Amino acid sequence: MSKRILLVSNRLPVTIDKKKQKVRYKPSPGGLATGLGSFYRNYESLWIGWSGVTEETLTAGEWKVAAKRLLEEYRCAPVFLTRADIKNYYYGFCNKTVWPLFHYFPNYTVYDKFMWQSYEKVNERFRDMVMKHANPDDTIWIQDYQLLLLPRLLRERMPAVKIGFFLHIPFPSFEIFRLLPWRNEILEGMMGADLIGFHTYDYVRHFLSSVSRILGYEHTLGQFLVGNRFVKVDAFPMGIDYERFSGAPKEEEVRLEIERIKKKIRSEKIILSVDRLDYTKGILNRLEAFDFFLKTNPAYRGKVTLILVAVPSRTGVETYRMLKREIDEMVGRINGAYSTIEWMPVWYLYQSLPFHKLAAFYFLSDVALVTPLRDGMNLIAKEYVATKGDGNGILILSGMAGSVHELGEALIVNPHNREQVAEAIKTALEIPQEEQREKNRVMQQRLKRYDVNRWAHDFVERLETVATYSRELNEQILSAEVKKKLINGYKKSFRRLVLLDYDGTLVRFVKRPEHAKPDQDLGSVLRRLAADKKNEVVIISGRDKETLENWFSGIDISFVAEHGVWLKERGVGWSEIEPLRNEWKDDIRPILDLYVDRTPGSFIEEKEFSLVWHYRKADPEFALIRVSELREILVKLTENFNIGIMEGNKVLEIKNAGINKGRAAQTWISKGPWDFILAIGDDVTDEDIFQELPGNAYSIKVGFGPTRARYNIGGVGEVRLLLQELSTAPSSGSRNRR
Ligand code: UDP
Ligand code: G6P
Repeated sequence: MSKRILLVSNRLPVTIDKKKQKVRYKPSPGGLATGLGSFYRNYESLWIGWSGVTEETLTAGEWKVAAKRLLEEYRCAPVFLTRADIKNYYYGFCNKTVWPLFHYFPNYTVYDKFMWQSYEKVNERFRDMVMKHANPDDTIWIQDYQLLLLPRLLRERMPAVKIGFFLHIPFPSFEIFRLLPWRNEILEGMMGADLIGFHTYDYVRHFLSSVSRILGYEHTLGQFLVGNRFVKVDAFPMGIDYERFSGAPKEEEVRLEIERIKKKIRSEKIILSVDRLDYTKGILNRLEAFDFFLKTNPAYRGKVTLILVAVPSRTGVETYRMLKREIDEMVGRINGAYSTIEWMPVWYLYQSLPFHKLAAFYFLSDVALVTPLRDGMNLIAKEYVATKGDGNGILILSGMAGSVHELGEALIVNPHNREQVAEAIKTALEIPQEEQREKNRVMQQRLKRYDVNRWAHDFVERLETVATYSRELNEQILSAEVKKKLINGYKKSFRRLVLLDYDGTLVRFVKRPEHAKPDQDLGSVLRRLAADKKNEVVIISGRDKETLENWFSGIDISFVAEHGVWLKERGVGWSEIEPLRNEWKDDIRPILDLYVDRTPGSFIEEKEFSLVWHYRKADPEFALIRVSELREILVKLTENFNIGIMEGNKVLEIKNAGINKGRAAQTWISKGPWDFILAIGDDVTDEDIFQELPGNAYSIKVGFGPTRARYNIGGVGEVRLLLQELSTAPSSGSRNRR
């Protein structure tokens, strides 16, 4: 992986501020910046993002110096955000809409069109900045909820570039996500990426469900086919810089800090709590639980101190300011109630700690109390365990943190259950030391294996793989060169067979199939093709013969109806491909009726020799369960009849066995010799046609994905264009077919 990577996130790993006319640089808070910070330093990369100050804060001269220093010293390129952007985009849509909603706080969520427009505008600004730096060979890796629209915005401008997207916060269940008025735009935005990563499988599952319900896309094992490219969705639990944390207690600066703290805090046991001051972190619930612990365990008073580190965060949002006041008050209350001259139960620090101080606290604490109400991952929990080395210490972890999946040996609690958390504190303080070390050893092995570097490399490698699949997919596209050859072959030939599927090939798929009538243009193209005596044009469809008869009256072509049951040669009437039976329908119909009742939105279509259960209007996930149930029942039931089950695009068709489009196509192929054969189709049922064709035939699948056809073509528009060109191509031969 020698190529360059462009990391794009709202926040750069370094934050600028200006105090007393002096511009200062410091590390940014939060898991994204700290986690990725160590990865990108070891990689050929550029990080594009916001520097933490509004554009207006610095003068033009200061910006010039800052931008130069950011680039040369930190390999960062700043995106400029004005005071208004910060208000409406950052404090607005990012942190009053997406953040609370995705963390299951719908009551804190603000839906405001103006903020949404600002979010769109800033995402476009990020796009422009990326475009300024990106080369076609770069890998672009976009981070987090502030830039959900960016993958698509970039895809529109750079269709072939590799784009990865990672969400560092939870992706909520569909029931929550659907509340967002801009849910379609957000999903479409994310789907611009080749690879979309989440911390846990739960978030993956929620996302897949929202995409299928809202956008109607189907996936196979987390992989979508969107137009001519794949989009893969997967879980990559973010790791930490394990070596840095496990090695910290040996660092001189950390050792000195440990000694300093030891002198200050005299109590026997230390409990640690560290978070950004955020309502998702459950700080108030935690304080309540600690209060309850002291109340119910008087023996521990005077012996246990809670160190509460709250890192200032998003102070421009009212809910954060309110929370700060409440925390201040509650700390005051607890300290007021229990403190003695020698002992204070809560040590409260409202500040961001540098690495050596944080590591010293991790190392010294007997217990880490990490109880978010909802957290995408939570790196604090992982860092605590890593820093412990072979020392003692126990982690109490909320079941609502993404990291719980990798830290199962911790004491797992429900942060809303005050009694349980208080009990866990007591248990943690009393667990035998050997047991504590054993728990940590197991977790440490896991954290060491999948550290932040493995995580990032894993993501980038997977992105490379998906992009390769998409490239391969495009290699089968009917190129201009092949198309020219095809048209030349057509012109030179004397006996031509053209086999055409209807729905999805000649006309676009529509929700109401009765609305898919051929339009005038299609009529004229088919008429022109049919008028050429060298041509035999056959429409091979799943539709019934009455519909085809009706729609194409007056056009002199041949037909196959009901997926091969009925054949009609031009100028001749309809005939059955073989004598067929349909008494079995009376046994199957009641079962399908039952499934219609049990699956709202689904319906039955009855054809002369088949029954079709349509479910395209039903709930997509629910329908899949029903399909597999129904399939199982039908397989058993149809054993005794000579009938088969065929699965098409959102349909399950029960029909006579051995009848398919391929067999019907064969009837025409055997009327050869043909010196030009073209077959076009989009559905799984058309694969049977492709399979029957001789090697020199042109077979084309409309859309992408696995196929037996030799070529793919983008959509109905391109098919129409091709037929149009054929129908007006002057023949170079003069022999007549008939
Ligand atoms: N952190 C820090 N100083 C502090 C508190 C936290 O550097 O005083 C870092 C900590 O090391 C961790 C990150 O901030 O890497 C917090 O990440 P986490 O995933 O736990 O929560 P987030 O803030 O991303 O929601
Ligand atoms: C979380 C988010 C990050 C964000 C960080 C700090 O970790 O996932 O995207 O950068 O919090 O929040 P802030 O608003 O200060 O960037």
